[in-house]
Amino acid sequence: MRERITSRRIAAGRRCTTSRIHPTDEKTMPDDDQHAMAQQAPPYVPPQPLTLRINGTDHQLLVEPRVSLLDALRDRIGLTGTKKGCDRGQCGACTVLVDGQRINSCLTLAVMHDGREITTVEGLAQGDKPHPVQQAFMDHDAFQCGYCTPGQVCSTVALLRELAEGQASAVTRGERLVQLSEEEIRERMSGNLCRCGAYQNIVAAIRTAASVAGQ
Ligand code: FES
Ligand code: FES
Repeated sequence: MRERITSRRIAAGRRCTTSRIHPTDEKTMPDDDQHAMAQQAPPYVPPQPLTLRINGTDHQLLVEPRVSLLDALRDRIGLTGTKKGCDRGQCGACTVLVDGQRINSCLTLAVMHDGREITTVEGLAQGDKPHPVQQAFMDHDAFQCGYCTPGQVCSTVALLRELAEGQASAVTRGERLVQLSEEEIRERMSGNLCRCGAYQNIVAAIRTAASVAGQ
């Protein structure tokens, strides 16, 4: 019986609202259950100082270890170009570059990137001159609502680097890439979803960006 009450309370907590717990549950919760739950809770870890180097500028922060890189970028630093779509690694809207590699910033903690080189969509243009990938997206109308676009653009920048390094994908025939086919582009961009379905133009933009980059 005691276990049943505990799991019901935990389930209610997962729905993110303590107000849904019926008041009588609170009254019937034995003291030793409350004590057991308190013991299971992870210990509080205070905010940690860290330096995030973003787009060439150092940002000194004090953040709790549980804060994702995405939330640090958007809510603490104010770089809202990086978008939060699913917040669980499924859509790619939050893609940024860390030391040139693309990652989902919602799936990683800010404290893990102390001192590393982070590039967001805000850091790609050179002054008023858009990055060639941004220009290609504009030239091909590779967006409708544009919500997925910062992640698509960052992912494409990393894709071009992967191509330059000769990295194979799951659909590459042989060990090295010989041709950037549509199949290759779709496979390499499969982590970035576009709810508007602008894929055809995104593929065209990536082809153009790759040819500008000499690939
Ligand atoms: S918000 Fe990070 S993958 Fe969707
Ligand atoms: S342009 Fe709207 S989600 Fe891609």
